[in-house]
Amino acid sequence: MDQPFTFTLPFPDLVPSRVDNHIQRRLSAMRGQFLDQKAYEEMVAAGDPLLYEVYEIHRPEVEGEMLMGISVVHPGKVGDEFYMTKGHFHTVLDTAEVYYVLKGEGCMVMETPEGDAHVEMLSPGKVLYVPPRWAHRSVCTGRQEDLVTFFIYPGNAGHDYGTIEQQGFRKLVVEKDGRVAVVDNPRWQPAQKEAA
Ligand code: F6R
Ligand code: ZN
Repeated sequence: MDQPFTFTLPFPDLVPSRVDNHIQRRLSAMRGQFLDQKAYEEMVAAGDPLLYEVYEIHRPEVEGEMLMGISVVHPGKVGDEFYMTKGHFHTVLDTAEVYYVLKGEGCMVMETPEGDAHVEMLSPGKVLYVPPRWAHRSVCTGRQEDLVTFFIYPGNAGHDYGTIEQQGFRKLVVEKDGRVAVVDNPRWQPAQKEAA
């Protein structure tokens, strides 16, 4: 029988007192996701910047458990497009997720297999509920500050990255005339599903 446990996430540094796994995702892990492919290749060749980090608290990946952690998306752009996470559907599509925004400015880009799309602006103090079936990607739109969120989701959710790697998200978040703008992704195309 597990014992209850706590950990702390003190302001202003927001470094969790317990970290079981620290993921660091660099630009080279995001091939094909940014629209400006020339800018992408140049930035990978020039040093392959760190885009985001995830601090995970380990729990068994089974129904009944909750998985939680901290996501930190750094500020920056590839061409006009802001730094973002890979994004994914949950493998078990009917599982939701909750995000609590701790620091920074950004948005969550979301879409369903049925063709719905939604972009929610994120700022400190906001709680976002991502319902079952919605793929999700965090984007940092700050000039200098990280976007830091706490997330929690069901232990059996799993991550389907492949669908988004193939089709992208329907919406992109870019800087246009000095402002944050949400635009259609001209390269979005439905992923090829494997034959059953
Ligand atoms: C978990 C979840 C977040 C993301 C994190 C990094 O289901 O949605 O913890 O894993 O924000 O994004 P990805 O996983 O898309 O690289
Ligand atoms: Zn998720």
